[in-house]
Amino acid sequence: VTGLRVAVIAGGASTEANVSRASASAVCEALGRAGHRSELLELEPRLGARLAESSFDLVFPVTHGPVGEDGCLQGLLEVLELPYVGSGVLASALAASKPHAKVFFRRAGLPVPEEALVRRGDDLGRAARSVRAAIGSGVVVKPASGGSAIATSRVAADADEAVLIAALEAALTVDSVTLVERLVTGREVTCGVLDDDEAPIAFPPTLILSKSSDWYDFASRYAVGGSEHRCPAPLPASVNARVQELAVAAFRALDCRDLARVDFVVGDASDDTRVTLLEVNTLPGMTATSLYPEAAGFAGFDFPTLCDRLARRAHARPKRARPVEMPMP
Ligand SMILES: Nc1ncnc2c1ncn2[C@@H]1O[C@H](COP(=O)(O)OP(=O)(O)O)[C@@H](O)[C@H]1O
Ligand SMILES: [Mg+2]
Repeated sequence: VTGLRVAVIAGGASTEANVSRASASAVCEALGRAGHRSELLELEPRLGARLAESSFDLVFPVTHGPVGEDGCLQGLLEVLELPYVGSGVLASALAASKPHAKVFFRRAGLPVPEEALVRRGDDLGRAARSVRAAIGSGVVVKPASGGSAIATSRVAADADEAVLIAALEAALTVDSVTLVERLVTGREVTCGVLDDDEAPIAFPPTLILSKSSDWYDFASRYAVGGSEHRCPAPLPASVNARVQELAVAAFRALDCRDLARVDFVVGDASDDTRVTLLEVNTLPGMTATSLYPEAAGFAGFDFPTLCDRLARRAHARPKRARPVEMPMP
C-alpha cells in the first residue's frame, strides 16, 4: 500500500496552541516513518482555502481546545469532504463542554462527581454559598470548556468563601459557564482508548504523580520533571480493569471515534478503590512521550504504528452517503 498525503493541523488561537504544535510535529515525523507524506498546517482562517486547493488524502487534526477540538474544525472538514482522524462534530463538541458531556455520562450510568453550574453575571457570593450547600465545601472549579487545567482551582473544604469566589472569577474569565464539582480526593489516572472494528481497545491505565505541585495543574503537566507517569498504573488489577471498562463506556457514551484519552480520579475519602470519571479528551497530547502514545506503546502500538493505524482507518472510512435530492412538489 502506498503512503497517504496527510495534512497535520496544529496551533490556532488556543491557550494550548504550543502544546498542539509540539504534538503535531511528532505526528508528522511518525507518519513519515510509516511511509506517509505529511505537511504541517496552522489552524487559521485561510486553512479551508489551503485545504481546498491542495490534494490531501487525509487530515490529521492534532489541535487542542476551542475551534480545533470542539467540532468547529471537524465541521469545516465535513464541508470540504475530507476524511479526518478523530471524533466527528457532535462527539467533539460534547466532549469539549464538560457539563454537556456529563449529561451523557450520567445517562449511561457512569460515576461522575456531583456538580453545580455558575454563569457570568450571577451574584458570586450567593452562588458560592448555594454551591457549598448543594455539593459540599471541598470543590474543584473549572471553565466548562477548559483544558490543561487552565483557570482551574481546587478549593479546600476549610477555605474561606472569598477563595471560592476568586476561583469562580478566574474560571469565568475563560468561559461564561463554570463547572463546580465535588473535590474527589484520590489519585490521578488516565486511560487511552483506540477504536477497533468490534469494540474500542482500552490501553493500560496510567497513574500520574504530580511533582511540581500538589495536584495535576498546568505546571506539573508541562514543566520538565513536573510529573511522573506509571504505566501500567500500579493499582489492583480489578481497579485497572474498572478504569478500562469505564474509559470505553465514556468513549461510547459520547459516540467518539478513533481515539480519546479519558481522565479519572481513583479513590476518595471513604474508599480508595472507587473510580470517578472526570472527562474525555478527543484529541489527546501526541508528543512521543505524551500519556496517550506512551500507553499505546504498552499495548503494543509503537508511535509510528499508532499514527499509521489512525491514518489508515480514517482514510478507509466509508464516505458520507449522498442523499437523493427531492424535486420540489
Ligand atoms: N472533581 C474533581 N476532584 C478532584 N480533582 C479534580 C476534579 N476535577 C478536576 N480535578 C483535577 O483537575 C484536573 C483538570 O480537570 P479535568 O476535568 O481533567 O479538565 P482539563 O484536563 O480539561 O483541564 C484533573 O486532572 C484533576 O487533577
Ligand atoms: Mg483532563
